[in-house]
Amino acid sequence: MKHNGSDIAAPTLAIAYHSGFGHTATLAHAVAAGASEAGADVAVIAVDQMDDTDWDTLDAADGILFGSATYMGNVSAAFQSFAEQTGRRCVDGTWRDKVAAGFTNSGGKSGDKLNTLVSLSVFAAQHHMHWVSLGLGPGWNSSAGSEHDLNRLGFFLGAGAATDVDANSEEVHPSDVRTCRHLGWRVAHVTRQLNVGRSAIPAASNPGASSAPAH
Ligand SMILES: Cc1cc2nc3c(=O)[nH]c(=O)nc-3n(C[C@H](O)[C@H](O)[C@H](O)COP(=O)(O)O)c2cc1C
Repeated sequence: MKHNGSDIAAPTLAIAYHSGFGHTATLAHAVAAGASEAGADVAVIAVDQMDDTDWDTLDAADGILFGSATYMGNVSAAFQSFAEQTGRRCVDGTWRDKVAAGFTNSGGKSGDKLNTLVSLSVFAAQHHMHWVSLGLGPGWNSSAGSEHDLNRLGFFLGAGAATDVDANSEEVHPSDVRTCRHLGWRVAHVTRQLNVGRSAIPAASNPGASSAPAH
């Protein structure tokens, strides 16, 4: 039988982010709006203010989108503190096979924030999660382009935004907001596809992937 996805419950997504000054928080809510638009049930969680219910929400979600401000060319200390609190979950495989994606914001147009997205993707891989790329071509890369293009900063691994360090949280660039909205939409869509596939093909472990050395 061909599934169209409508017979599968809405994917559940959580957005786990850190924002010191509100810019990445604005992006987190844009990601959430895009995911909701694609039919997901979404929770937005600030990782520096988590309670037990928030941890339960992350554990139960089909997918988690990680977001961090770029500080010193990497995820913020608060985000890394959150990451380090997941060590037991990492060992236990609590988040194994969940969908993952990432977004970041920096003051500089580059600001070395690719490194932040790399850190987020490595974090997801350590949890054996399925990383979803941004899925957009680079904007603002020809004479016909402009800063108003979607994906204006030309990222592939996730969504990258740049906000003036003296801007308030409502002054995040509209293109970056739309780019994050797209990321949320895409992850919700991919998660729904995966959920439909999983309903047809149950999970299995690879018998050839034992950690014992082969003889
Ligand atoms: C400790 C610290 C380190 C920063 N490091 C960088 C950096 O490496 N690259 C950059 O472009 N901006 C850097 N910034 C600027 C922030 O990325 C920028 O202000 C961003 O909008 C903050 O996001 P937030 O409002 O979500 O915290 C840094 C800011 C702080 C406070």
